[in-house]
Amino acid sequence: MSETAITISNLVKRFDDVVAVDGLDLEIKWGELFGLLGPNGAGKTTTLNILNTLLEMTEGSASVGGYDVVEDADKVRELIGVCPQEPSYYGFLSGRENIELFGDLHGVPKDVLDERIDDLIRKIGLEDHINRRAKEYSGGMIRRVSTLMALVHDPKVALLDEPTVAMDPVSRRAVWDFIRELKDNGMAIILTTHYMEEAEVLCDRVGIIDEGRLIALGSPKELMDKYEAEDLEEVFIKLTGKKLTEGV
Ligand SMILES: Nc1ncnc2c1ncn2[C@@H]1O[C@H](COP(=O)(O)OP(=O)(O)OP(=O)(O)O)[C@@H](O)[C@H]1O
Ligand SMILES: [Mg+2]
Repeated sequence: MSETAITISNLVKRFDDVVAVDGLDLEIKWGELFGLLGPNGAGKTTTLNILNTLLEMTEGSASVGGYDVVEDADKVRELIGVCPQEPSYYGFLSGRENIELFGDLHGVPKDVLDERIDDLIRKIGLEDHINRRAKEYSGGMIRRVSTLMALVHDPKVALLDEPTVAMDPVSRRAVWDFIRELKDNGMAIILTTHYMEEAEVLCDRVGIIDEGRLIALGSPKELMDKYEAEDLEEVFIKLTGKKLTEGV
């Protein structure tokens, strides 16, 4: 396996006249939990969708586990687990059946799958609801199911787009513990979130992007020191809040 888990080089993505990603460079290590932060429309989901092979870049390159996301897209898909910003699931199946379906699609053997799903459900605190039909779930429940659908095949790399949105504080902490454990086992994880306290306690490093460009990179502590801020939220607001306060 490659030395770095994810490499993004001079990545550009244009949609007609919108430049969604504008020359992004990033390297993410194995066992690193990386927070991709930025205001609405900054280019986070677009970047993740290029890494997960759904979108093709306009310029530049990106690789996962040493495999090019365009040339070796099949290999990349084998390595990754994807939790999309908009959860996608079958409402008429139970939460458990949705997770099983994804495990089957990835070729996880049945006996391994059953045991793994029991373990995952317990860790993410879904025991009481897992056999209900997914269309009956609350927003936070479906997010947790969606996170497990992304991870049931034990991928090497996880791309999690706002996995904890709409979760209550207890559920969110369960997901944090769960994600930490994955990282400790060597998984490389990119997580996007608008909760700065989440990024601060969870992420080894964060990258703040704005208008498709990286404007800050480092551990939460490094950024708080550098920008003389009390917390990561203050860093974020200092760096990205100008347009709103100056009315540009
Ligand atoms: N399919 C598309 N066609 C046209 N423009 C798009 C498309 N997808 C994204 N964009 C534009 O690209 C920019 C980046 O969008 P993106 O979804 O990557 O932002 P984001 O950082 O994930 O934002 P959010 O925090 O709101 O999820 C936005 O200006 C958006 O309108
Ligand atoms: Mg997004």
